[in-house]
Amino acid sequence: MKDIEFNFDNCLISTDKIIETAKKLKPEIGSMKEASSKGYEVEKAFINLPEDESMLKNVSELVKEKKQLNPEYLVVVGIGGSNLGTMAVQEAVLGKLYNNLSSSIKVLYADTVDEDYINCIIKIIENSLVNGGNVIVNCVSKSGTTTETAANFEVIFNILQKYKKEAENYVVVTSDRDSELWNLGLEKGFDTLEIPQKVGGRFSVLSAVGLFPLGLLGLNIRALVDGAKYIKNVCLSDDVYSNPAAKSASIQFQHYKQGRNIFDLFLFANDLESLGKWNRQLVAESLGKEYNKKGEKVNVGFTPTVSVGSTDLHSVAQLYLGGPFDKFTTFVSVQENFSSIKIPSSLEMRELVTGIRGRSLKTIMDAILEGTKAAFSQKKRPFIEITLPNKSEYAIGQFLQFKMIETVYLGYLLDVNPFGQPNVEDYKKETRRILS
Ligand code: PA5
Repeated sequence: MKDIEFNFDNCLISTDKIIETAKKLKPEIGSMKEASSKGYEVEKAFINLPEDESMLKNVSELVKEKKQLNPEYLVVVGIGGSNLGTMAVQEAVLGKLYNNLSSSIKVLYADTVDEDYINCIIKIIENSLVNGGNVIVNCVSKSGTTTETAANFEVIFNILQKYKKEAENYVVVTSDRDSELWNLGLEKGFDTLEIPQKVGGRFSVLSAVGLFPLGLLGLNIRALVDGAKYIKNVCLSDDVYSNPAAKSASIQFQHYKQGRNIFDLFLFANDLESLGKWNRQLVAESLGKEYNKKGEKVNVGFTPTVSVGSTDLHSVAQLYLGGPFDKFTTFVSVQENFSSIKIPSSLEMRELVTGIRGRSLKTIMDAILEGTKAAFSQKKRPFIEITLPNKSEYAIGQFLQFKMIETVYLGYLLDVNPFGQPNVEDYKKETRRILS
C-alpha cells in the first residue's frame, strides 16, 4: 500500500532552525513513546486506539449485528469531536454525494439544534419508517450531557418509537462508561460502546466514536487503523529531521513566532473538505488556550482555516497572495482519484480555454495546483505539501493520526495542554444554567 508523502521545500524556514526546534521535541517524543506502552492510563491515550484489537472486535461484532437489520438509514447524533471525524472519513472515502448514489445504508448527521434541518432528517427517516424501513440511531457523546445531542436524541428516538415496537434495538450509544448517557443506555436496553476515559472528543475518531458508524457504512475500519499504526511509528521517530510530524510542527511554530497566526489547510479534493473541518476543531480546541502549563495567562493559539481547491481560489486567492503576511498554508492533494473523466477530444463547442481538449479533469486540477504553488512561491508565501496516495481508509487513517500527533507536538512547543477545553465548558455550563 502506498503512503502519504510530505514536502517541506517551500516552508521558508531554514534547515538549521527546523532542526533546532525539532530537537526541543525530543522529550515529548519520548513521552509519546512511553504512552505507547501504557494503554489508556495516560493523557495521550489516543495514540493507542489503533492497537486496541478488543475494541475493534467489539465494534465489528455490533456492526455485523446491526447490519442484519438491513437499515436504510444511519443517523449519527453527536457534535464536535463526536461527529466531525466520522463525517470527515465518510466523505473522504465514500464521497460527499454518497447518499445520492448509495443503494445501501445512507447516513444523516444530527448535530446542531436547527429545527429546519432536524425536521428534514425527521421527514427522511419517517419516509423510510412508514414504509417498514429500518433506521439505526447512533447517539455519540463523551460527556453524555451535551445539550444539542441530548435534545436531538430525544426528538429522533421519539420518532423511532412511533414506528418500532422495540425501538431500543435500533439505538447504539457511544459514551464514557458511567456517564449519564451510558447509564440511560443500560437502563433502556440500548447497545453501548465505550470511549476510553482519557481519550478526548477531538482525539476520538479512531475509537468506537468513528469506527462504529464507519463500519456500519461499510468502510474498511481495519485499514483505517492500520494506516494510523503505520504513521504513528514514523511520527515517533527520534530522528527529528525525518519525522514529518516533528518537522511540520517545528515549521509552524517558527511561523507562529514570526507573527503568522492563520494556518490554512488547503485541500485540493472536494471530498476532503470535512477532513479540513475535523482538523480545524483539533487545532483550535487543542492549541487555543488562555493559560500555559505553568498556569500563566498566555492567550495563545492558531486560527485554523479550511480552503478547498480549486473552488476557493475563486474566493480567497487574492487575499492569500496579496494580503497580509499572516498566513501559513498546508496544501493537501491526492495522487489517484477513484474515477477518471476525460474531456472529449472532439469538442462540440469551440475550445474556450486552450489546452483542455482530450485532457482529464485530474490533469487540469494538477495544473491549477502547480500554478497555485508557483504563485505562492513567487510571492514568498510559506507552505508545505501533503500528498495522499488516494482517499482510501488506509491513507486517511495515516492523515488523521499524523495530524493528532503533530497537534500534540505543537502543544508542547506552545507550552499548553492540548487535551482540555476549559473555555468550551464555560459556554456549555452557562447554556445549562439558562435552560434550567
Ligand atoms: O473535542 C471535544 O472534546 C469537544 O468538541 C466535544 O467533542 C464536543 O463538545 C461534544 O462533546 P460530547 O462528546 O461530550 O457530547
